[in-house]
Amino acid sequence: MKMVIDHLNFTKDTKLFPIIGYPMGQSSASYAYNPLFAANGIDEIMFPIEIPVGKLDDFMAAFRTLGLKHFSLTMPHKSAIIPYLDEVDEYSRIFNSVNIVKVNENGKTVGAGMDGRGNMAAIKMANVCVKDMHVFILGAGSIVGVILLELAKEGARKVTLVNRSIERAQTLVQTVRQYTSMEIVCLPFTNENLDKVAAECDFFMQATPLGLYGYPEDHSYLGFLDKLKPEAVVMENIVNPPMTTMAKRALKLNHKVIYGVDMMIGQLGAIFEFCYGYRPKNEHLDMAKRSVYQYFGIE
Ligand SMILES: NC(=O)c1ccc[n+]([C@@H]2O[C@H](COP(=O)([O-])OP(=O)(O)OC[C@H]3O[C@@H](n4cnc5c(N)ncnc54)[C@H](OP(=O)(O)O)[C@@H]3O)[C@@H](O)[C@H]2O)c1
Repeated sequence: MKMVIDHLNFTKDTKLFPIIGYPMGQSSASYAYNPLFAANGIDEIMFPIEIPVGKLDDFMAAFRTLGLKHFSLTMPHKSAIIPYLDEVDEYSRIFNSVNIVKVNENGKTVGAGMDGRGNMAAIKMANVCVKDMHVFILGAGSIVGVILLELAKEGARKVTLVNRSIERAQTLVQTVRQYTSMEIVCLPFTNENLDKVAAECDFFMQATPLGLYGYPEDHSYLGFLDKLKPEAVVMENIVNPPMTTMAKRALKLNHKVIYGVDMMIGQLGAIFEFCYGYRPKNEHLDMAKRSVYQYFGIE
């Protein structure tokens, strides 16, 4: 889909703010960022660029040559970018996940991962409080470490991770244990485990690419959603499509559903603060959210 920008107004000083990934699918981030830039008088334009695996060398050379100040990144570059950067904060380095890079006042490239903060911001925007909750997370990939830390910070009682590779989940938990004593249990990805944990949890969070636009697989079994308590909250981390088969089924079962789009929007405040030193006004964040919702044709 082509973007229509009614504020396209640039000079030789206007900087490109690329968002890089591969493949990019229908990248929606520019629909959130560009209206925010316009509303805040920031002379940058976000533009999605596909950078294949193995091409970060070339991208970083171009970034420097063009004198750009910021870029955002998504899969598959979130961990591969780290060796190219001068500074990365402790958690982003430990969990191998950077999704925003800036050039600071000393000319150093500084990276940070905002997925954990964005995820929790989306939960709070939905007026959900995870304190004392048992959270069931499907997946144990790059975003889950920082999400676990946020859940611990907000007082979640217990998290159960169900993952295809139990070893990966256990390794992640070992790392997280250095920072929190929250109870975390890992189980293999079987239909029996999905049913069992769904029946016990207060909050189900989908953190795999199953159902993601362009991903070859979707969930082969969603019957576990029928086992959730009626008041259980459901969160889908996938941005595109905004309404996955999982989210549709959870909505049909009348659960409160938090969408991946909200996690992307939830990161905006923190990313702005990281890049420009201040949080945008709430009315501007709302406008960015409306722009992305409109792009996806959702209410
Ligand atoms: N809303 C946002 O702003 C936002 C931001 C970042 C990411 N996301 C979304 O969050 C999801 C997870 O991201 P990530 O960076 O953590 O991904 P990741 O590091 O690639 O991890 C993928 C996870 O999904 C599991 N998985 C993949 N294919 C599977 C399959 N066919 N069957 C069962 N499990 C499967 C993997 O299990 P194994 O460990 O067994 O491989 C792993 O736990 C993605 O869909 C991504 O699009 C959203």
